[in-house]
Amino acid sequence: MTENPLIYDTPAAMAAGLASRLVADLFDGRPHHIAVSGGSTPRALFQALAKEAHRDWSHIHLYWVDERCVAPDHADSNYRMTHETLLAHVPIPETNVHRMRGEAEPELEARRYSYLLDEILPKVAGLPVFDFVLLGMGADGHTASIFPGNLGLFDMPADVADTCRTAVHPESGQRRVTLTGQVINHSQVIIFHVTGADKADKVKGILTRQPGAEVYPAAHVQAAHPEGKLIWYLDQAAASQL
Ligand code: 6PG
Repeated sequence: MTENPLIYDTPAAMAAGLASRLVADLFDGRPHHIAVSGGSTPRALFQALAKEAHRDWSHIHLYWVDERCVAPDHADSNYRMTHETLLAHVPIPETNVHRMRGEAEPELEARRYSYLLDEILPKVAGLPVFDFVLLGMGADGHTASIFPGNLGLFDMPADVADTCRTAVHPESGQRRVTLTGQVINHSQVIIFHVTGADKADKVKGILTRQPGAEVYPAAHVQAAHPEGKLIWYLDQAAASQL
């Protein structure tokens, strides 16, 4: 089910609104498995969540939607950004932080992470199920590291070792490891958090199902879990063409 988009005046207000939803959902004493994206949008969200250091983080298990194939201390590393803005500030057990190893050989890491998900997460339709997946969207309509022209990453995984794959950034050539689209789609709660006027046309195309929007990978994110939800958090700028 796709809920109506939640639209906030500013990126900071959107981050605060999403943080308060996550706080309400995550800190109920039950285990929660959440996969987060990288890039710049999550910074404000993670800084807001970092204020919740007084809570019990022992039930929260953190994963990544994708990672750049760089060392964890590299400026491009999604792990480094998450550590700087969130992990360094909250008492989440290290054993609950399931880092995609950007420093590893990409194909081997994609398989390792696939097996990790198969080992830890519950399954629906044979696919590992996250409780929450937080997605961003690039101005080209990509999400995770699923870029336009690579929609094959939404095909059903061939086996348990195929739920994470490698990808290449089309401009920089940077190698990536990414969750595949069916794993994203089978999550319980899929949350897009998107800001900026440069994304407004893609947001409109996707949310109003305009012909041609199917070329954008973000348009292929659907709630496929039996009780799945897809929710868009937007700031005014990203929602300006709705
Ligand atoms: C990444 C992300 C990617 C990101 C979008 C949006 O590794 O870069 O996972 O999918 O969510 O590119 O990035 P911004 O938040 O910087 O706009």
